[in-house]
Amino acid sequence: MTPDITGGGAWQALLDRSQAARSSQMRDLFKSDPQRFNRFSLAAAGLFLDYSKNRLDAGTLDLLLTLARERGVEERRNAMFGGGKINSTEKRAVLHTALRAPRTSPAAVDGQAVADEVHAVLDRIRLFTERVRSGEWLGHTGKPITDIVNIGIGGSDLGPKMASQALRTYHHPRLRCHFVSNVDAHDLDAALHQVDPATTLFVIASKTFTTQETMMNARSARAWFLQHGNQQQLARHFVAVSTNIRAVEEFGIDSANMFPFWDWVGGRYSVWSAIGLSVALMIGYEGFRQFLDGGFAMDQHFISAPLEKNMPALLALVGIWNRNFLHAASQSIAPYHQDLRYFPGYLQQLEMESNGKRVTLDGKTVTHATCPVVWGDVGTNGQHAYFQLLHQGTETIPVDFIAALRPAHGIDGHHRVLLANCFAQSEALMLGKTAAEVEAELSGQGLPPEQVAALVPHKTFPGNRPSNTILLDALTPASLGALVALYEHKTFVQGVIWGVNSFDQWGVELGKVLAKNIEAELNSDRGSQSHDSSTSGLIAMARDAARSLG
Ligand code: F6P
Repeated sequence: MTPDITGGGAWQALLDRSQAARSSQMRDLFKSDPQRFNRFSLAAAGLFLDYSKNRLDAGTLDLLLTLARERGVEERRNAMFGGGKINSTEKRAVLHTALRAPRTSPAAVDGQAVADEVHAVLDRIRLFTERVRSGEWLGHTGKPITDIVNIGIGGSDLGPKMASQALRTYHHPRLRCHFVSNVDAHDLDAALHQVDPATTLFVIASKTFTTQETMMNARSARAWFLQHGNQQQLARHFVAVSTNIRAVEEFGIDSANMFPFWDWVGGRYSVWSAIGLSVALMIGYEGFRQFLDGGFAMDQHFISAPLEKNMPALLALVGIWNRNFLHAASQSIAPYHQDLRYFPGYLQQLEMESNGKRVTLDGKTVTHATCPVVWGDVGTNGQHAYFQLLHQGTETIPVDFIAALRPAHGIDGHHRVLLANCFAQSEALMLGKTAAEVEAELSGQGLPPEQVAALVPHKTFPGNRPSNTILLDALTPASLGALVALYEHKTFVQGVIWGVNSFDQWGVELGKVLAKNIEAELNSDRGSQSHDSSTSGLIAMARDAARSLG
């Protein structure tokens, strides 16, 4: 049974406290405590988290920590690492952490240690990636591979695409990678126009190997290849990553060219598995291992640090405070690093597919809000698009700023400006600008009083808007691994507090089923029945358009 979380002692006390917090000003909290930055920040696994720019004081934090304990966060965490079947609706263990653990890891599912099979696959990834990167693995005309096309969707795309882009500066100079996910063939078409069939390796990445988009793209890619090479030569150009060996073989990929993983790895947690093959191909096995090590370092921190000093737990609790007590309905992610441009999209799946739920583990409708909408874009671009709303809109939207202290490029001056903007945005969101400050400034510029009065409301910033800042020393495979694991564990902690199953995703099913029916109707001359008038009307329009194309 999951007791109603809002009925617990800490929840009620936090509710009481949130009344006062709504009127408290962060600028006053900073003024009254010169140690605030030190008190509300910490380092772990090579990352630094500053959460001081939140409407939070020591008493609130204590209550949030009590809430985490009341909700059994530590016990659930231990159950996850211990291989417990915490994904109860699918009766599965949740052990993506075992993918980044060393060979000596005791992680087990159903009493069976998993380290040997995990490392056997890693060994195969090492051998394969070395062969491709060295030029020993040849395409059907005898030339080395130049292009990797990863065909997958959701977790089989977002993770490898994000990590591969983030680690762009580590790429092998001969290799380019492309990610095809959308069933809209403009995606595949664009990729195929950039590659040569003789030097292209397709990685078909799908946990189930049944996902409509991926299988359709894979079949079309295979048909395209077979216009240039024959069935036997396919083996040099198609490999698969999946848990479904039978479907892979049925597709025509030899099991020798298949990299397996396991049902205890959720799709959105799978970049650490062979789903990361394209990342390993691009940055090399050593780099991939460092990525895993970064994730492992965060795991070690998460499992051993007390909640008071536990980075994922604190990040999660600040999020709970903002979501459930200060009613922030969305969470913006602002990486001040161009190479992290796919990170907000990656977190959308991680957090929203995990915690976008409205029933608790025991099937009761929640009486509290769960996952906020997660969105964002890189700084400084976002500043010139939607930051206006962050500063002066009617919603309070917490922002996670993410930046690296050292850039990977050597172009003078830019990084200083980038970091200055990053820090200035969080300062501006926190500080705001009072009407009195605006008035003094405009009067000082010699504006007549009536103009000052007219402009003051427009130029006033309410401030008091929360943000976290996460600093990496540099964006490396290890720091990226730690960053991804930080957000995974944050998501986990929030899911435990909200009492939901963070590891299923039934909400994606209904649309898939309906799409199958509609696709059949689009493909036949029968009139469409049993739909609402809107859906029937849209189907009719698409049919007419298809007919007019012949
Ligand atoms: O439809 C959602 C989903 O199941 C995701 O959870 C998953 O990452 C994605 O589809 C792709 O699934 P697969 O790897 O099995 O193709």
